[in-house]
Amino acid sequence: MIDSNENKTEKGVGEAAWEQPTAHRTGAGQVTDPYPHLAELRREGPVHSGSFFNHFNVPDPTAEVWPDAKRFITVGYAETEQVLKDNVTFSNAGIRKMTEYVFGSVSLMGSDDPEHRKFRSLVQPAFGRYGLGKWSAFVAPRLNQLIDRFEDRGSADLYFEYCAEFPVYVIAMTLGVKPKDIPQFHEWATMLQIAAATPDEARAARLSVEDYMREIINDRRRSPRDDVISMLLEREIEEDGEKHKITEKQLLGLICNLLPAGSGTTYRTLGILLVTLLERPELLEQLYDNRHLVPPVVDELLRWNGPVLVAPPRLATCDVTVGGVHIPAGSIVEAGIAAANRDPAEFDDPETYNPHRERRANLAFSTGSHFCMGAKVAHMELITAINTLLDRLPRLRLDESKTAPEITGLWYRMPTSVPAKWG
Ligand code: HEM
Repeated sequence: MIDSNENKTEKGVGEAAWEQPTAHRTGAGQVTDPYPHLAELRREGPVHSGSFFNHFNVPDPTAEVWPDAKRFITVGYAETEQVLKDNVTFSNAGIRKMTEYVFGSVSLMGSDDPEHRKFRSLVQPAFGRYGLGKWSAFVAPRLNQLIDRFEDRGSADLYFEYCAEFPVYVIAMTLGVKPKDIPQFHEWATMLQIAAATPDEARAARLSVEDYMREIINDRRRSPRDDVISMLLEREIEEDGEKHKITEKQLLGLICNLLPAGSGTTYRTLGILLVTLLERPELLEQLYDNRHLVPPVVDELLRWNGPVLVAPPRLATCDVTVGGVHIPAGSIVEAGIAAANRDPAEFDDPETYNPHRERRANLAFSTGSHFCMGAKVAHMELITAINTLLDRLPRLRLDESKTAPEITGLWYRMPTSVPAKWG
């Protein structure tokens, strides 16, 4: 499965200079622990005016997108769920302005039904039984290959050498990218994350991805294979009363939607999870012999300190009241996923990371019709990544000779490092 001619990246792709400014734009290095302030806001009320950037005194990279709109945030679970579930009142069209240079004409995150449903169902099989099998085939071999590189050393920064090196690899391989081009793909994927790059940088990244993928699409048209691109090329869509095969433009648009959504989120989650486990040695030790705890350890991490603090902002299409606050039509509303996931009205002792708590739904993957398409892929990747580490590296522990890691970021959360030792 793994191409032996693959270019080895000496440095973890996440460490590359380009990730730092993009992460910084969305709050990395500026906000470490947002939760005390989120709890304070929640105590004052479930909905507030302003953006999350305003509330944390971080320069708002989205201010120029909606210069005249009133802004609101939700920090209560019920109110966040209300916004995410009601796509008529809270439209995704608001973020078209932010996503059109990223995704081109097809935007899952920036559209409402029926257009949204049309494109979502087109790409759905990539996440069904067939698609999941294709994604998962790349996961364990890649993880083992990464561990082969550093196992004998007895220590590593697992964020750069493990976490950051696999989700982009998996998505890129699933799309037919050559292994040697994957570091470049990672760079493009980062530039395509909403608000993480300037419009010009994001547009340039999209055009590069499109050029690259056009060749793969043409190849699969000439000689179809048993892979996700060939399968998607067979998908039919009904437009203006007529059925036709997916067009190249539509397929390229969908690929640009998947790439950023499926890369940063997963490796950052794994990094945050590993820091959380290394800081809890007794739980980590328990995991070695109690693998049934791995799924709840992942789910609870997503609730407690997930990688996405706020859902893509919504546009209020009419005057509406949420949590007792009047929101005028035309306002931009940020649904605060992370704040909702620690709402004491919904979860007992919400500030504590407790994988033994009763398992129940949370909003880490959002809810409603825009619920994360890759949730199953992400779960599979995260569970396999933890199990593979436990299989291969005995007595995993924090490397205290290195700078202590921190979790940082506002819109997107990530660790500064994952210094670990074993053996
Ligand atoms: C732990 C990892 C992940 C987290 C926490 C996460 C979270 C999210 C969130 C919060 C949204 C926004 C939904 C909304 O607007 O209401 C989203 C959308 C999306 N995610 Fe994920 N995601 C993860 C991994 C993935 C992966 C691995 C993929 C694909 C391979 C993926 C594909 C998507 C897509 C396509 C959307 C747009 C859905 C739509 O608008 O209909 N995600 N995700």
